[in-house]
Amino acid sequence: MAAWKPHNSLFVRLAMAALLGAGAAGAQTATLGLGRAATPAEIQAADISVSPSGVNLPPGGGTAGQGADVYQRRCQRCHGAKGEGGEEGPALAGGQGSLATPKPLKTVGSYWPHATTLFDYTRRAMPFNQPGILTNDQVYAVTAYVLHLNGLFPAGQRLDAQSLLKIKMPNRDGFIPDDRPDTGKSAKKAKR
Ligand code: HEC
Repeated sequence: MAAWKPHNSLFVRLAMAALLGAGAAGAQTATLGLGRAATPAEIQAADISVSPSGVNLPPGGGTAGQGADVYQRRCQRCHGAKGEGGEEGPALAGGQGSLATPKPLKTVGSYWPHATTLFDYTRRAMPFNQPGILTNDQVYAVTAYVLHLNGLFPAGQRLDAQSLLKIKMPNRDGFIPDDRPDTGKSAKKAKR
């Protein structure tokens, strides 16, 4: 088996291309009688990713106080009363200053480089068992609360797209560009 490398095999690549092509064509035409084109409204509803720099952040906002309420009803069960984590979910708070110690604790507060990711991830993926049920205001509020639990956002202030972008996460500068030849900018330069 060791000599067989699927990603280097021209045959496999051609087969993949044929499959992908057939899939795309199938979705467009009724030949196979499968599927239909997504409507613009459906595409818009799914197109909610927010970039680290805040592109696509929606209008709305909320305070940590409002977020505490959302948190208690929707998050606490898995992430603990103060974000310390529990049996069903990881810690969301604490661990600042622990990354270079023998017992690093990676949380939103200690590890994540961008606060915008907390909004994006929560909106798309949480609550784990019912993703998508929170309104944008509730996501802003619970984001404010998780940041507040990490000492990164004051209790009474309203979190919205502007104030979210102003938050500098403690580990913002703790990442270095990945300079392996097959990733990032160098990958585009390298001929494969
Ligand atoms: C049913 C349990 C459950 C509930 C309820 C829940 N979560 Fe989670 N959460 C998880 C699990 C499990 C993970 C880890 C998922 C993974 O790594 O794929 C997670 C991961 C996260 C993370 C990423 C943590 C990290 O550092 O990787 C954040 C942020 C988060 N949850 C926020 C929330 C918020 C905010 C709510 C409430 C709106 C919530 N969660 C509700 C189970 C839950």
